Amino acid sequence: MPAPVLQVEELTMHYLTRQGEVRAVDNVSFTLAQGEALGVVGESGCGKTSIALCLLRVLPDNARILSGRILLNGTDLLQLGDEEMRRWRWQHISMVFQAAMSSLNPVARVGSQIEEAILVHQRGSLQEARERAAHLFGLVGLEEALLRRYPHELSGGMRQRAVIALALSCQPSVVVADEPTTALDVIVQHLVLEELKRVQRDLHTSIMYISHDIGVIAQVSARIAVMYAGKIVEIAPTGVLFEHFRHRYTQALLSCFPRLHGPKLALEPLEGDPPDLVSPPSACRFHPRCHYATEICKTEEPAFEKHGPDQFAACWHPVQESERGRS
Ligand SMILES: Nc1ncnc2c1ncn2[C@@H]1O[C@H](COP(=O)(O)OP(=O)(O)O)[C@@H](O)[C@H]1O
Ligand code: SF4
Ligand SMILES: [Mg+2]
Repeated sequence: MPAPVLQVEELTMHYLTRQGEVRAVDNVSFTLAQGEALGVVGESGCGKTSIALCLLRVLPDNARILSGRILLNGTDLLQLGDEEMRRWRWQHISMVFQAAMSSLNPVARVGSQIEEAILVHQRGSLQEARERAAHLFGLVGLEEALLRRYPHELSGGMRQRAVIALALSCQPSVVVADEPTTALDVIVQHLVLEELKRVQRDLHTSIMYISHDIGVIAQVSARIAVMYAGKIVEIAPTGVLFEHFRHRYTQALLSCFPRLHGPKLALEPLEGDPPDLVSPPSACRFHPRCHYATEICKTEEPAFEKHGPDQFAACWHPVQESERGRS
């Protein structure tokens, strides 16, 4: 695998609330290679957005990063001053949020917003910024004429494409796309994802896709990290994850996903909800919902173990090959 552009090491972040500390990100480590698309999947409330907010350092006031490093091309973002981080944001790492409208200024034409982002962060003339904005619109499948429109004059799909163009405006090494298509209907969602995939291939940008929908993640990601209750519990190349998943939570997530290919799964419907992260379950946080839990799952945290090339999972009773094929 090429050298990582982004290296997240043992990241831990809590929110301080009146009920106590919400342990939203707990000792999370992963890498993202140049030009790679990594998916992060897990049910709502598992800490996916919290990781994204740490990467961009756009945290609410009650958030505290307690430990870890976020190395972007070798620089630890957590060590940068606020002003320096402001420069790094957009230029080196940018983000596509779920709510496209909130990323755009409603009273400025979309073209001028992209031009402004380019002019603020990169040297060059207004003419060059205009040309680049037009080029970016072409990349995401939007006609140049739409640059002169206001956000409310665009459809949801067009707006999300404009936000993607904005995120790409300064040619960042890494784009974090948090539920980039969740607000769109299925057909537009598919088109926008295809657009993102093409842009990633053409520009060789590294993209971290975040979604609760493993179908969306599988469509665009080469590798997938599965998150549960603030932790990454399994990470593997997409094909390996679908065919040879080892963690019982991955098994449960995939059981909810209709599949046409691959081995049949024992149906293990996912009951209940992810836990309250103020007082998460002991040891393996999935144990109250896991059909395979034994005593050790409640008392000792399973280690993150290698299960194959590029495949790691933290489970005391991982799925065995002999179990696959049952239906
Ligand atoms: N600003 C906040 N203050 C307190 N708790 C928060 C805040 N934002 C998120 N949380 C909590 O942190 C946990 C992780 O949330 P989030 O990162 O949004 O998960 P996801 O993106 O996977 O749905 C949840 O328990 C959520 O309620
Ligand atoms: S460690 Fe135990 S409780 Fe956790 S997923 Fe594996 S079998 Fe289930
Ligand atoms: Mg989220």
